[in-house]
Amino acid sequence: MGKGHGFGKVIMFGEHFVVHGVPGIASATSLSTEAIVKKFKGPGLNVIDNRKGTEGYTQSKKEQQKESLEYTLKAMSIDLKKNPMEITLGGDLPVFSGIGASAASAVAIARAISDEFRMNLSDERINEIAYEAEKAYAGNPSGIDNTAATYGGLIWFMRGAPSKMERLKIKNPVEIVMGNSGVVADTKEVVAGVAERKQKNPQKYDKIFKDAEELVHKARKSLERFDLKTVGELMNENQKLLQEIEVSGKELDFLVKLARDKGAWGAKLTGGGVGGCMVALTPRKELQEKVASAMEKEGFKVLRMKIG
Ligand code: PMV
Repeated sequence: MGKGHGFGKVIMFGEHFVVHGVPGIASATSLSTEAIVKKFKGPGLNVIDNRKGTEGYTQSKKEQQKESLEYTLKAMSIDLKKNPMEITLGGDLPVFSGIGASAASAVAIARAISDEFRMNLSDERINEIAYEAEKAYAGNPSGIDNTAATYGGLIWFMRGAPSKMERLKIKNPVEIVMGNSGVVADTKEVVAGVAERKQKNPQKYDKIFKDAEELVHKARKSLERFDLKTVGELMNENQKLLQEIEVSGKELDFLVKLARDKGAWGAKLTGGGVGGCMVALTPRKELQEKVASAMEKEGFKVLRMKIG
């Protein structure tokens, strides 16, 4: 039997822009997906998905999951005919859109297969395999999700050949709330939509992307200075840019406004958008609780977490 885990993630700055080479800032969540790989009578592959989360998520991602597993096995040179296997997915990371559930499972599965077949793969190699797996879910992924899922912590990420990852240090961990809009989104479609609009409106999009780049550098400095007031303001600005590229949504905008009304220092969608999750900066437990419970009162699922 082989075992592996992968972290969830919350993108604090730069989703979508990061696909096109702008740096992004993400934090892994303390919650993670666990995978167990066992020998199986066969034929082929049996997947048991015990992860909990948004209704309809597992079903709607079934085909992408199948494709993703094919990419994983190919990248790991595993022939299912010779090695039929059963993969069981679990852990405490809920499967919401926007929390990096696909990348967390890709990393967990690659690690579990590596464990089962005594491959002893490095984190770097696991990250590369998970990137291949992510293509099934995201089409043209930046790599930020699988990198956060593999290494954990708070990271600065920039896509390139090769991509760059730096760990960010902040003075103290900070409370955040993630609110789930309850809408399952197809990241692949949303990412493709941005690319299409960018191509059609180069002037408008070049300006927005330039603003996003300036913003993420300011955000890094503010985080490192532990100037949370500015971090929150920059999150709000980031949300405006995400609205301009048309990746927010009705439920997300509602939750963002609710969080700000309840005193959050900043709030924005996180991840692919359209549906999925938003994140609010809520330093101190009392504020976190106030924002989280206001969302719960409106019937939304929330996660209370810390970054850094
Ligand atoms: O929706 P998620 O959790 O898969 O996040 C996607 C993040 C994007 O920036 C939109 C895509 C990417 O590959 O970086």
